[in-house]
Amino acid sequence: MDRLIIEGGKRLQGEIGISGSKNALLPILAATLLTDEPCRISGVPCLRDTSTMIRILRSLGKNVNFKNDEITVKSSGHVNTTAEYKLVSTMRASFCVLGPLLAKFKKARVSLPGGCVIGLRPVDLHLKGLRALGACLDIDKGYVVARADRLSGAHIYLGGAFGSSVLATANVMMAATKAYGITKIESAACEPEIVDLAKFLNKMGARIKGFGTPLIEIEGVRRLQGVEYRIIPDRIEAGTFIIAALITGGDVKLVNVIWQHMGAVLDKLEDIGADIEKADKTIEVKSSRPLRATNITTLPYPGFPTDMQAQMMALMSLVPGVSIITEKVYPDRFMHIAELNRMGAHIQRQGPHAIIEGVGQLCGAKVMASDLRASACLILAGLVAKGITSVSRIYHLERGYENLDEKLNSLGARICREKE
Ligand code: EPZ
Repeated sequence: MDRLIIEGGKRLQGEIGISGSKNALLPILAATLLTDEPCRISGVPCLRDTSTMIRILRSLGKNVNFKNDEITVKSSGHVNTTAEYKLVSTMRASFCVLGPLLAKFKKARVSLPGGCVIGLRPVDLHLKGLRALGACLDIDKGYVVARADRLSGAHIYLGGAFGSSVLATANVMMAATKAYGITKIESAACEPEIVDLAKFLNKMGARIKGFGTPLIEIEGVRRLQGVEYRIIPDRIEAGTFIIAALITGGDVKLVNVIWQHMGAVLDKLEDIGADIEKADKTIEVKSSRPLRATNITTLPYPGFPTDMQAQMMALMSLVPGVSIITEKVYPDRFMHIAELNRMGAHIQRQGPHAIIEGVGQLCGAKVMASDLRASACLILAGLVAKGITSVSRIYHLERGYENLDEKLNSLGARICREKE
């Protein structure tokens, strides 16, 4: 396993390109199971999760080629409808092959994904939606065993205790593209990644309306064709770089961003005093004035994204005053608090709330990454901490950030990688 060694105190300056969105890519790759024709997807980030989904598609009978930033998916002639535990358990998003396999092959056997450090990660909404379409789903030895001789359109309420579900919306929407009749998904996820998936499916010949709103309507069709498609830029990577600029007091220009996907984050950062200039596909961040404490609550889109919570906590740990972060999507997504406190932060957890008392300085330390966004949080803290910070278990980071250390070094950071 590798670790990153970060020398704190370097002010970031310059221009950085944002990679394609992991959370748009993964369901779109699953959607290629809906056709036997070739699909070509560009703007693809080189990530551990990209490789995992490619392995899953290959195990299901697809020929997949990944070169530069482009993936081509073709049928190999043989079909397998079982997604194995050893692959699904490493990446929860692989569970969204269930809907496409059911729609295309009328059967599937997909391992339940299990939980992770940020929460139990149940899939009850996925199963509810697919059953509403007429699928027979049983749980056998940790697998969902599914059959659907005929999927029929239905009106499905897909909201859960924590609001809408991104991947449940994706799974059910993909299954409904080939169901007989009209499906309405109420309390659907509105994330930009769901919009990207719906646009990909419509380009394949699906008939989907209302995506990006809580009510999505899908009229089933008989077949879907192969397509070429470019995925959207990663709004969470972009937000991470904006915070990297602010936490180091730097000036950074992001290119290849859709700032319209980042309303809640940009609004909150401007509200605390960040100097942010939005233009066509670029965002410029200047550290021109001190930042103010604030309160943040994470919510499904268009609310403040839970995937930016840890990064924001690193920033707020150095802002004078008391800030409160309330995590409403994954109430246990606070593994990074203990690590930040080891660097001198003053953060207390009270249930779903993190109470952050800003300190004058963080001190470099040996810390351990626990999940993808906690990794980014600790690296952000290391950029500004006094002395050296060592972040171990950065395989978590590599799941969702393309060359983050190299990109930060290109802006003036001082990060090196070494074997643990
Ligand atoms: C997606 O996960 C993202 N992953 C997550 O990003 C992101 O944090 C999450 O959406 C919320 O925005 C991908 O898109 C690959 P959910 P997903 O279903 O779809 C509960 C990252 O860092 N729920 O929207 O799995 C669930 O427990 C990752 O890139 C149920 O109760 O999340 C959570 O509290 C981490 N039953 C809430 O809904 C279900 O059947 C939202 O989860 C499904 C979810």
